[in-house]
Amino acid sequence: MWWMMGEGGGPYCSKKTDDYCADVCGQESGRLLSMSRVRCILRGFDIRALILLIMLIPTCIFGIYAHGQKISYFLRPLWESPPKPFHDIPHYYHENVSMENLCKLHGWGIREYPRRVYDAVLFSNEMDILTIRWKELYPYITKFVLLESNSTFSGIFKPLHFAKNREQFDFVEPRLEYATVGRTAKKGDNPFVEEAYQRLQLDNLLKLAGITDDDLLIMSDVDEIPSRHTINLLRWCDDIPDVLHLRLKNYLYSFEFLVDNNSWRASVHRYRENVTKYAHFRQTDDVLADAGWHCSFCFRKISEFIFKMKAYSHNDRIRFNKYLNPKRVQEVICNGDDLFDMLPEEYTFKEIIGKMGPIPHSYSAVHLPSYLLENAEKYKFLLPGNCRRDRE
Ligand SMILES: *[C@@H]1O[C@H](CO)[C@@H](O)[C@H](O)[C@H]1NC(C)=O
Ligand SMILES: *[C@@H]1O[C@H](CO)[C@@H](O)[C@H](O)[C@H]1NC(C)=O
Ligand SMILES: *[C@@H]1O[C@H](CO)[C@@H](O)[C@H](O)[C@H]1NC(C)=O
Ligand SMILES: *[C@@H]1O[C@H](CO)[C@@H](O)[C@H](O)[C@H]1NC(C)=O
Repeated sequence: MWWMMGEGGGPYCSKKTDDYCADVCGQESGRLLSMSRVRCILRGFDIRALILLIMLIPTCIFGIYAHGQKISYFLRPLWESPPKPFHDIPHYYHENVSMENLCKLHGWGIREYPRRVYDAVLFSNEMDILTIRWKELYPYITKFVLLESNSTFSGIFKPLHFAKNREQFDFVEPRLEYATVGRTAKKGDNPFVEEAYQRLQLDNLLKLAGITDDDLLIMSDVDEIPSRHTINLLRWCDDIPDVLHLRLKNYLYSFEFLVDNNSWRASVHRYRENVTKYAHFRQTDDVLADAGWHCSFCFRKISEFIFKMKAYSHNDRIRFNKYLNPKRVQEVICNGDDLFDMLPEEYTFKEIIGKMGPIPHSYSAVHLPSYLLENAEKYKFLLPGNCRRDRE
């Protein structure tokens, strides 16, 4: 302890050396006494401060090196103001309420027949989540549109996982519009270049799949899964907004770790030829509450986590190779910690501090995709209490 170091000899005004201080300081009286006491205290303070400084400076330098990104995230509220708030549309649902009444509750009318629905995704390697997604949406989808590239957004070549495992998806075959594309960017280019190119190709594939005006188009990542009843509502009701974001429950690693209820990137569009463009950013202010699930990094095998970490658009986050160590990845998953050892990306100190540390465990498996629960043994890694993953 730093305060014990003084005991060796210096004239400190600590308890053990009170006698010495009394010699110097004690005999005098009045103002003089308090002056020398102050000096005593100051001398003690100087050396302590010096020791502290000597220890602190390298710690700080190391700290900034290791946690620079954290520091900048923590200070984010100082340099970035929060985006304009969304307009949250309340969402009403119960299985025993008629569609007519559900539409009315939202202020919408009911149509004579439902709209056709297209679900379009860019696929990387999320085999299990894709199955759960397609089984959830299956009853209401006209065409499943899937585009797969032999390159990740960050420009690393990858196998065509879907093509290799296509027979697992027999159940959608008659409704499937599938295509592959090659890499356009070079390794080291900004990942958003490759991403924009793939989304453009998806627009072309949608036309090929026969999408027409006023069909519903779901724009979302594979792991952003609208709930079945949400899509049913939107295809049956008239007067829904032209573009509507979906507020999804945000899970990480599995349905055991509920981060928040605020995922918003997924959207549903009433398609308009030459106007609607596939995008994954904010496109409107309207967002429908509690419309499904977003399960990021919900993989069966550790190797899939590592692939995704490398393939990620923000792959500058892998600052240390230890992040890719399978043992560490497994520990992080079980604790609900962050794979990249980062702070929450929020806009206010209150939210950052509120979300710091591991994600609390959730023991609810109520209101999850039905296919997941009906095949709980096959997908048990997604359910509470099953954080251990296979390596390969
Ligand atoms: C819900 O609806 C079903 C049929 O649509 C009916 O059999 C059931 O009794 C209803 N349940 C309640 C609680 O009203
Ligand atoms: C990726 O796909 C493109 C176009 O299909 C092809 O020309 C290229 O050889 C492929 N590259 C690899 C490494 O598979
Ligand atoms: C998310 O919403 C559910 C209710 O649907 C609530 O129980 C839960 O506490 C919310 N979670 C967070 C992290 O806000
Ligand atoms: C959309 O663009 C194509 C090609 O430019 C054109 O042939 C078509 O008429 C346009 N459709 C509408 C509805 O404007």
